[in-house]
Amino acid sequence: MAEPKNVFFAVLQLVFGLAYTAYCILETLVLTFLPRRFRMKDITGDIVLVTGGGSGIGRLMCLKFAEKGAKIVTWDVNDAGNRETMRQVVALGAQCRAYTVDLCDRVAVYQAAARVKEEVGKVDILVNNAGIVTGKKFMESSDDLIVKTFQVNTFAHFWTVKAFLEDMLESNKGHVVNIASMAGWVGCNGLVDYCSSKFAAVGFDEALRLELKALGKTGVKTTCVCPVYISTGMFEGVQSR
Ligand SMILES: NC(=O)c1ccc[n+]([C@@H]2O[C@H](COP(=O)([O-])OP(=O)(O)OC[C@H]3O[C@@H](n4cnc5c(N)ncnc54)[C@H](O)[C@@H]3O)[C@@H](O)[C@H]2O)c1
Repeated sequence: MAEPKNVFFAVLQLVFGLAYTAYCILETLVLTFLPRRFRMKDITGDIVLVTGGGSGIGRLMCLKFAEKGAKIVTWDVNDAGNRETMRQVVALGAQCRAYTVDLCDRVAVYQAAARVKEEVGKVDILVNNAGIVTGKKFMESSDDLIVKTFQVNTFAHFWTVKAFLEDMLESNKGHVVNIASMAGWVGCNGLVDYCSSKFAAVGFDEALRLELKALGKTGVKTTCVCPVYISTGMFEGVQSR
């Protein structure tokens, strides 16, 4: 038989939980109808680092952030693509630095992060965007490619966030954006390694967000972006209804 005191606290927790849920729903509704300009933060002069900035969504984000007045840092293992992104950003009149970094190499990530801090400054917005897909059936996926998929799509987030979060915590200002995927919510045929790595990326974002909240660092945010198919070449030929 439960003690009346415990029952009381359980009911209190439930009431609080329901009230908080109602508050969150109300807040979401209000924010949905609030004009965009009141919801967006000013990022003029902010330093934005985008991993995988050398093509696709990463390059587009570099250009968009540059249009909004941010200074861009792009990291990619593809040196030529990375330099092309830098050329396009500079053509917009914005500042940009490109670093050739292999995100599979943890030490290289920490070394590049140290260089960015010294040569550019404190990163305000970190966008974990780089990703790979092998597109192979489970039994045809080599061990090495499975490991690489996790290294780029998941583990790299740990190294980049470890490298840049401390400065964000100190100033209580910063944003970590994790480009995951709808494949991080729903399993897909032929994408066992990719889906698993993206499920992990979604979990990474959510757990980090809760940890920041528990630390009281209200100025450091995280955003998890879960796109469906976009024609960047990554999912060439894939059809979806
Ligand atoms: N395109 C889509 O349909 C789609 C859908 C859902 C999610 N996403 C996600 O969006 C992100 C961007 O995808 P995209 O479509 O622009 O792909 P993309 O292939 O055009 O870009 C990925 C970039 O990451 C870089 N990269 C890969 N391995 C790297 C490594 N080891 N070190 C450093 N850089 C590395 C590549 O060189 C490339 O420039 C990925 O995380 C992807 O999983 C894409």
